[in-house]
Amino acid sequence: MPLLEVRNISKSFGGLRAIKDVSFKVEKGELIGIIGPNGAGKSTLFNLISGVYHPDTGSIFFKGEDITKMEPYELVRKGLVRSWQIVRPFRNLTVEENIQVAFYGGGFIEGGSEYKQRLEEILQMTGLLTYRKQLSKNLPQGYLKRLEVARAVATGAELLMLDEPFAGLRADEIKGLMHLIATLHNRGLTLLIIEHVVRSLLELTRRVLVLHEGRLIKEGTPEEVRRDKMVIEAYFGEESEVA
Ligand SMILES: Nc1ncnc2c1ncn2[C@@H]1O[C@H](COP(=O)(O)OP(=O)(O)OP(=O)(O)O)[C@@H](O)[C@H]1O
Ligand SMILES: [Mg+2]
Repeated sequence: MPLLEVRNISKSFGGLRAIKDVSFKVEKGELIGIIGPNGAGKSTLFNLISGVYHPDTGSIFFKGEDITKMEPYELVRKGLVRSWQIVRPFRNLTVEENIQVAFYGGGFIEGGSEYKQRLEEILQMTGLLTYRKQLSKNLPQGYLKRLEVARAVATGAELLMLDEPFAGLRADEIKGLMHLIATLHNRGLTLLIIEHVVRSLLELTRRVLVLHEGRLIKEGTPEEVRRDKMVIEAYFGEESEVA
């Protein structure tokens, strides 16, 4: 059974068909890249999977359960979590407090050694140990992104969807975040990653989905996607590069 299955979903906003009959499956442990020009429907796809919006038609299954009409808070408790294109921590809470809030969000209760150990583990893994007592509003951009990932992990995520995690980061910050993503993947987390910095994404993943004007126009390895004529055309005239 796939971890996630999206079956023929469509979504319109007024007259605009943002997602058109999209279907795909995600196996447990996969890291899948999602690319496509601006306005292709990538964030909308994440909004549909994570319950922010519901599809007009089609259905979505997570661990075999129909989740099509579920709300984001229910899905977080089931292990399906997304991050946002713009990071959204609680700015006046410390790094550590932000992670603690996420424990509650995932349905975990504070207290006990297991919980304390988990907090230490997440701080360590995400490289946030030295920042633990800092207010999140004072964090550099690269560490804010790490905090966003730390919060998602703290909810007990099994499927983590990252919307443009590298946006606005310097090259060295991208490298650090890529390393963190690879670590999470090695530990068995399943990831879906939307990205415009296609070069970095293609280094991380074995499988890429390409969206264009709401449709899934291509699915394949990074090499196959790079060479695909339709994909090159979809990107033609865009700032983003496929190469
Ligand atoms: N809540 C909404 N109401 C109306 N239109 C929307 C809404 N959300 C998205 N859209 C429209 O749906 C289309 C797809 O948008 P979406 O944000 O999914 O694209 P994207 O692929 O994430 O683009 P980008 O790379 O710029 O982030 C766009 O035309 C957008 O304007
Ligand atoms: Mg987007």
